[in-house]
Amino acid sequence: MTYPKIKVTPPGPKAKAIVDRDAAVISPSFGRAYPLVVESAEGNIVRDVDGNEFIDMNAGLAVCSVGHGHPKLKEAIKDQVDKFIHYSYTDFYYDNYVELGEELAKILPMGGDKKVFYGNSGAEAIEAAMKVSRWHTGRQGYIAYIGSFHGRTLGAVSLTASKPYQRRRFAPLIPGVEHVFYPYCYRCPFNLDCDSCDMACVDYIDDHLFHKYVPPEEVAMLIAEPIQGEGGYVVPPDAYFPKLKKLLDEHGILFAVDEVQSGVGRTGKWFAIEHWGVEPDIVCVAKGIAAGMPLGVMASKAEIQDWTPGSHASTFGGNPVSCAAALSVLDIIKTEDLLKNAEVEGGYIKKRLEEMMEVHPMIGDVRGKGLMVGVEVVKDKDSKEVASKETEEIMMDCFRNGLAIVNCGVNVIRWMPPLTITRDLIDPSLEIFEKALSKIEAA
Ligand SMILES: Cc1ncc(COP(=O)(O)O)c(C=O)c1O
Repeated sequence: MTYPKIKVTPPGPKAKAIVDRDAAVISPSFGRAYPLVVESAEGNIVRDVDGNEFIDMNAGLAVCSVGHGHPKLKEAIKDQVDKFIHYSYTDFYYDNYVELGEELAKILPMGGDKKVFYGNSGAEAIEAAMKVSRWHTGRQGYIAYIGSFHGRTLGAVSLTASKPYQRRRFAPLIPGVEHVFYPYCYRCPFNLDCDSCDMACVDYIDDHLFHKYVPPEEVAMLIAEPIQGEGGYVVPPDAYFPKLKKLLDEHGILFAVDEVQSGVGRTGKWFAIEHWGVEPDIVCVAKGIAAGMPLGVMASKAEIQDWTPGSHASTFGGNPVSCAAALSVLDIIKTEDLLKNAEVEGGYIKKRLEEMMEVHPMIGDVRGKGLMVGVEVVKDKDSKEVASKETEEIMMDCFRNGLAIVNCGVNVIRWMPPLTITRDLIDPSLEIFEKALSKIEAA
């Protein structure tokens, strides 16, 4: 069977009707990519309400890690629904909550004992990290990155610095958050070359924050996405995190990694920070961990979670159906060798895009690890001028031709399919993307 299959140029009539109904009753606060109205999904294919079948490079926004409708996952969820759906862990106990903690402890990227806390979303995992880091250190301040995305609750959005509209009119946000430059070497804010700069962006934190106006002993944690997601799939150079961690250790500042998008196998390792061989103190996980069931995890070295009963909890957090789903996801990733698939197929996508970069004037940069690959679209390679409108047009053209793929940053197309993606779907996807790009270049 060959995909994609477009019967009517999307959005078709049924999709349009639902989009119109949405406008009447649903909050207009969402920043939609395009009018894909999903009816069903299977494997790596998404079917819309008009019968179009798209290749899914979105994985429901990096969530559907093991593909859509995986039989083992469905069975695990159904089995748990038959047993019981909820019994608040705020006050009581059940087994799979603990079992998931035990399984996570085996794969978390730090040594020693670990503890986990469950919420329902990425933002809730971040909020838990913000609270526990204050509790444990007795300090108030945070350091986060320009370009970062950590969620939309007031705490998480105080760390977020990706797009002005995410923060506009929501002030006052949490005080004491300092934002520093992310190591975005393609557009180095210091205009340096990352092969010879000796990680000047880490020195900046030391020289210009800690020696000028941010007493380091008042900073509870620094939080970093190991690969900046929403900010444009930006990959730090090899030397960055080791040097950063050294600086943080000198000042007793906790190192938290936001693996909400990059974690649970997406980059070919369980957690993206493993690519840098650095141990975090806190790890935040959501999205792919339960493949569509709501679950956010804040995990840390055990000694950090020294908070006392009543200090933090969540009624729905770690509900038994989500825990069953997460256990099944971990099992599927192991038994189907999906870390390997992410590494191999992600490597293939990156290589093919790098080849395109050689011949296409509007591809400025290709970067990523595993199945987290970004293509930066520019007006021309010399000026590196951001081509945001063109990126949007490429995305829309792909959509009309059966490739569900979205952008990030303002000019990056991101490739983040389910970890189950196969070559027979990658090749036509690359073809659709290249055609869309060529059209824009010709125009
Ligand atoms: C890196 C990162 N952190 C946090 C979040 C927030 O997660 P949620 O939307 O589940 O609150 C996201 C969501 O896109 C994310 O990509």
